[in-house]
Amino acid sequence: METNQSSSDFTGKVAIVSGGGSGIGAATAKLLAAGGASVVLSDINLSAAEKIAAEITASGGKAAPFKADASKPEDSQATVEFAKKTYGALHLAYNNAGIVGPEKYVGDLTPEGWQSVINLNLNGVFYAMHYQIPAILASGGGAIVNTSSIAGFIGIANLSAYVASKHGVAGLTKSASIEYGKQGIRINSVHPGYIMTPLIAQWTDTDLGALEAMHPIGRLGQPEEIAEVVYFLLSNKASFMSGSQVVVDGGFLSV
Ligand SMILES: NC(=O)c1ccc[n+]([C@@H]2O[C@H](COP(=O)([O-])OP(=O)(O)OC[C@H]3O[C@@H](n4cnc5c(N)ncnc54)[C@H](O)[C@@H]3O)[C@@H](O)[C@H]2O)c1
Repeated sequence: METNQSSSDFTGKVAIVSGGGSGIGAATAKLLAAGGASVVLSDINLSAAEKIAAEITASGGKAAPFKADASKPEDSQATVEFAKKTYGALHLAYNNAGIVGPEKYVGDLTPEGWQSVINLNLNGVFYAMHYQIPAILASGGGAIVNTSSIAGFIGIANLSAYVASKHGVAGLTKSASIEYGKQGIRINSVHPGYIMTPLIAQWTDTDLGALEAMHPIGRLGQPEEIAEVVYFLLSNKASFMSGSQVVVDGGFLSV
């Protein structure tokens, strides 16, 4: 059992949040920094990451933006090197960058469209952990959360690549959790329902209204409601949780 940090205090801990410039990633980066962590916000959109990092530092937290395309292994490696160089270690990671991708039936989805989603949502999580895990081991252990979705449990028409990527994240997470549990790294996946972020804000009110009706709680989620659960999973309050698929969906999957 981890004993040197019995609470959810992240003082002295270093975290990477990918896709930290928007939505769920931004909310999580803010919460981790408020809890004392030094946070690297990696994002393909540097100005978005800079804006959130500036908000964090203005409120007394520690945050550094970093431009990285999570679908490129060399960028994931550079992100880990940046965290070590900037803050001296790496303990925590929230691998969250993701896209929905083209909305088409399988027969109409191009191989390029398929690959764009798999390369970021699934391969990107592998690249991230591949470079993060040695750094976390060298820092004395820690925790990782990977972003899956309710789409990691069910099929959704028009979203085969997204659904396949999110199922893949769950399997990758469980396998890695088995490999590194005894070495002091807990690895879990979080599975949000529909959350009101720029990822889905582009959809019409009719679409969003239909989605709301699919959540027994009667509304869509807010990014902060996922951030709270990720925060818990990264903290030692979740010290016996590893390989879990943690659903945060306002009851969506219960129907
Ligand atoms: N919003 C939802 O309803 C919902 C539901 C379930 C799961 N998720 C998952 O949560 C994660 C975050 O989604 P969100 O709703 O906060 O999205 P968002 O669009 O608000 O934020 C995503 C961030 O990722 C960044 N990004 C995009 N491509 C990138 C790349 N190649 N490399 C690095 N960064 C990149 C974007 O610039 C953006 O800052 C995604 O993995 C998504 O699949 C979202």
